[in-house]
Amino acid sequence: MTGALNALDQRITAQLDQFRQDAVYKTFNYLESPQAPRVQMEGRGSVIILSSNNYLGLSDDPMVMAAGKGAIDEFGAGTASVRFICGTFTIHRDLEAACARLVGTQASVSFVSCWNANEALPGTVLTEQDIILSDQLNHASIIDGLRLAKAITKCETGVFKHGDYAELDQKLAAASGKQVKMVVSDGIFSMEGSIVDLPALMAVCRKHGAILWIDDSHATGVLGKEGRGTPEHFGLHGQVDIITSTLGKALGGAAGGFVAGSSALCDYLMQRARPQLFTNALPPTVAASALAAIEILEAEPDRVAKLRENTAFFRKGLLSLGFRPHPGDTPIVPVILGETAAAIRMSELLLDEGVFVTGFGFPVVPQGTARVRCQISAAHSGEDLDQALAAFAKVGRKLGLI
Ligand SMILES: Cc1ncc(COP(=O)(O)O)c(C=O)c1O
Repeated sequence: MTGALNALDQRITAQLDQFRQDAVYKTFNYLESPQAPRVQMEGRGSVIILSSNNYLGLSDDPMVMAAGKGAIDEFGAGTASVRFICGTFTIHRDLEAACARLVGTQASVSFVSCWNANEALPGTVLTEQDIILSDQLNHASIIDGLRLAKAITKCETGVFKHGDYAELDQKLAAASGKQVKMVVSDGIFSMEGSIVDLPALMAVCRKHGAILWIDDSHATGVLGKEGRGTPEHFGLHGQVDIITSTLGKALGGAAGGFVAGSSALCDYLMQRARPQLFTNALPPTVAASALAAIEILEAEPDRVAKLRENTAFFRKGLLSLGFRPHPGDTPIVPVILGETAAAIRMSELLLDEGVFVTGFGFPVVPQGTARVRCQISAAHSGEDLDQALAAFAKVGRKLGLI
């Protein structure tokens, strides 16, 4: 090892030691079976998963898996280059048509992750004459997307307090001279499980002629009668200008994301977005699994109703035990515990009882609001949820929480 590398290793080793001392060092659990309501965890055996984004239970669905296997026979392992150089597989075109159909836009463009999609969008389309304003609680990929956009294009960026549309109104009024004004918000905020007030947000954007971009990663397949996301939930399907979302949660859970919007926007991203032009496309296996997941969702909207039923059951169970989950009705059900150490301890004790649910503390969530974040799936059976609630009861009593 060179002296220079040695210096780097020494510094990061000291930082890793500090993480351990501060009890923020993450330990990883290894799974030996597909994502499902119950998984085989190395060293633990069968555990109930309450911390996966497998909202519709499609990760191990036989049709989703078969589609991935079929695609490897049809298209091989991958594009072997970027799409404009080596060709675009028909499965990518079919997937993009399905994503646009699902969320109600003219077109969509796929990326290898929604992280990539969120980083690509603002830095590709905005210029120094434009401004983009972002809700304070938006996902990290949006925060980084704005940082990148500012560095690349010199566009103005800004943040408004979470859900504070009076502040947004003022900031947009002050930006009246900008050529393009864009506003971005998560559809469901992932740490709270709360839903954006889309009608109010849209009204402010319309008032100022601002383009509205919603990241619906936690809401696609989850909100709305047919799982089309936050706009459908509010009766505003097809009315949001730009939607980004992931294929890595409800839609099969493999990987991938997309930007959905006007045909011109998607065409421009295909021409100019750097994470489109300089990296390989989604592997065809992944694209085919996601397409199968969308087709299942379209054919079986009952899965969304089942998800809602399971969520209501679990929330009610927690409340009757004496827990105070963060209010809401999405399948993200955070139980706030305060200190980070308390959340980590609860998560460890729950795992001892055969329930895998992750504890989150500062800096992921604000100081003093550490939590275990439960996530419900349509695939959880009544027995899974009963057993999970029994574990919460036992651990909650042990920790003096209930
Ligand atoms: C709101 C939101 N946007 C984007 C992402 C990134 O999605 P992906 O895993 O496809 O990169 C996530 C994932 O956690 C998310 O919750």
